[in-house]
Amino acid sequence: DGEVYKYYADGEWKKCSSGKTVAIVNPTTRKTQYKVQACSQEEVNKVMDLAKSAQKSWAKTPLWKRAELLHKAAAILKEHKAPIAECLVKEIAKPAKDAVTEVVRSGDLISYCAEEGVRILGEGKFLVSDSFPGNERTKYCLTSKIPLGVILAIPPFNYPVNLAVSKIAPALIAGNSIVLKPPTQGAVSALHMVHCFHLAGFPKGLINCVTGKGSEIGDFLTMHPGVNCISFTGGDTGISISKKAGMIPLQMELGGKDACIVLEDADLDLVAANIIKGGFSYSGQRCTAVKVVLVMESVADALVEKVNAKVAKLTVGPPEDNCDITPVVSESSSNYIEGLVLDAKEKGATFCQEYKREGNLIWPLLLDNVRPDMRIAWEEPFGPVLPVIRISSVEEGIHHCNASNFGLQGCVFTKDVNKAIMISDAMETGTVQINSAPARGPDHFPFQGIKDSGIGSQGITNSINMMTKVKTTVINLP
Ligand code: G3P
Repeated sequence: DGEVYKYYADGEWKKCSSGKTVAIVNPTTRKTQYKVQACSQEEVNKVMDLAKSAQKSWAKTPLWKRAELLHKAAAILKEHKAPIAECLVKEIAKPAKDAVTEVVRSGDLISYCAEEGVRILGEGKFLVSDSFPGNERTKYCLTSKIPLGVILAIPPFNYPVNLAVSKIAPALIAGNSIVLKPPTQGAVSALHMVHCFHLAGFPKGLINCVTGKGSEIGDFLTMHPGVNCISFTGGDTGISISKKAGMIPLQMELGGKDACIVLEDADLDLVAANIIKGGFSYSGQRCTAVKVVLVMESVADALVEKVNAKVAKLTVGPPEDNCDITPVVSESSSNYIEGLVLDAKEKGATFCQEYKREGNLIWPLLLDNVRPDMRIAWEEPFGPVLPVIRISSVEEGIHHCNASNFGLQGCVFTKDVNKAIMISDAMETGTVQINSAPARGPDHFPFQGIKDSGIGSQGITNSINMMTKVKTTVINLP
């Protein structure tokens, strides 16, 4: 029937007063694996008050002490990698090895954040007035970076630990407090991660984690007057959050349709390996997954053949067995993917493999000769299905990439570095990778999307800066 996990507030594990719970369905077994508390709006109000008052004293805690606690949390998190990874396997069907990698990467992210924070927040600026016309040297301006207050962190199901700490650690080092609303699939992994912060000994109320139904507390959280900044990663919901949120800084990462442009001179073995890694790792459930291949017609047959040979070697099955392709997160997600596949079939795409689905498990599928009238040419499957569009010029590829409403990342494969840079400049995406698949990491690199892919820029340094505000004090001399 599943164990019921408590939510975390005021440094304690609590049950919600209504006694209501939310079920977490294991994507592989399609049975309830865990249950979490369904917090009410009243409980959210209490958490907001706690977070507000804890933040005041945390902001006064010396920076080096904040860093010390973060290093401690990072070490504890890494010690707990096995049980947390086990939750990731059960809740989101992430292959066991990748689940461990996610936790270790998260520990590293926290430590790096602590180090980066002491450097960049340990520095301020000093300005003098006589550089601006009409002024004497009578004003000295001191600048420093101060926290924003309470940060609402909403990570997605695909990295419930890593994309939670990529918000929590910058917020904390900068002197903010945290209200975390984990995704339902991934909530227990996130609660385990929060437990590591608890063990590290952070002050009560500084980090809080509320679980519950989006329909009940989603808008209530994002529109709450106690929230001073929202850091969200996920899908379309981010667009409606942006419209409803108040006058607060927003950090949004909302998916992509990352294109892989392949030129005639590309190393096709390298391209094929990157299409497999970029398109099919975690069964395509990454915002930065390769989501459309735009290949020059003259090399398309050769590339498709190489990719097909590698697709045939992908293992398909349960995450516990470390299979390459594991069940996608939910039945509704599987149905959505299937909708895209059937649409492509009806409109005449070439199926390089037979379409096969058992429950939420979808076999990897490459669709060749996809045309712009097919939904899969534009929509994100968030599954192991990858369209190939054959192009007759580089311009056609760039045009397709830029016609998308998304603009997260993209990649280009060619040996001609000048051409690669010109294509990178022409692609309307936050990042372009030359001769490798799109990826967010290393986690200190800037990470941002344009258009419907997001607001602001992430990566450790950018997130710390985004979660602070400049404060100035001006000394006026007689
Ligand atoms: O889907 C989330 C996005 O941030 C991807 O991260 O590390 O898989 O490139 P990564």
